Amino acid sequence: MTKMKFPYNEIVLEHFRDPKNVGEMENPDAKATEGSPVCGDMVTIYLRIDPKELRITDIKFQSYGCASNIATGSIITEMAKGMTLEEARRITWKQAAEALGGLPSIKMHCSVLAVGCLREAIKDYEERHGMVRERINTDEAVVMERLKHVMNPLTGLDMVETNLVKDMTIEDGVIEVTIDLPSDHQFAANLRAEVLEKLDALWDIQEVKINFTD
Ligand code: FES
Repeated sequence: MTKMKFPYNEIVLEHFRDPKNVGEMENPDAKATEGSPVCGDMVTIYLRIDPKELRITDIKFQSYGCASNIATGSIITEMAKGMTLEEARRITWKQAAEALGGLPSIKMHCSVLAVGCLREAIKDYEERHGMVRERINTDEAVVMERLKHVMNPLTGLDMVETNLVKDMTIEDGVIEVTIDLPSDHQFAANLRAEVLEKLDALWDIQEVKINFTD
């Protein structure tokens, strides 16, 4: 019998078999969930921040992705722990892939996904603490850009691309989004929570209303 050959090196396999910093964090100071448009996989990163030094004191991740994604989540959380937000933001997917001793080229998007998620979690912290450098007024483009980060669980693609956003208005600091699903759909509650999470940290928004098509 021929022995099966793994496309991954030993470092990747080690981080895949025994990933560091895995799990959910209770009451995190910031978090982000990102999905890959390439494969539909998802990763969530949670941060605990020392507000004085703006340093990451704890970090955890959950991955619904492949071995590369789990290994990258493990390595970047190890790299980011103890760094300032500024330092952690500068971690690139190339550095993550290098720290893993290389990834197969068709798996590079998996580390792009994990690094992108870390940057979004940092951004989430900054938004929640009014640290955003240039304050962009929330308009339709800003909202749609954020909704592109909410996955449609029916297809694994984002909710904008899959036409789940039936209607969206912004008026006097209130965003109203209508999702093209009935409110008793099995994914309705999940989508509501994710849309709220993406929109309620916007600095000039007081309320987010979510409707379904019934
Ligand atoms: Fe989807 Fe790796 S194939 S994250």
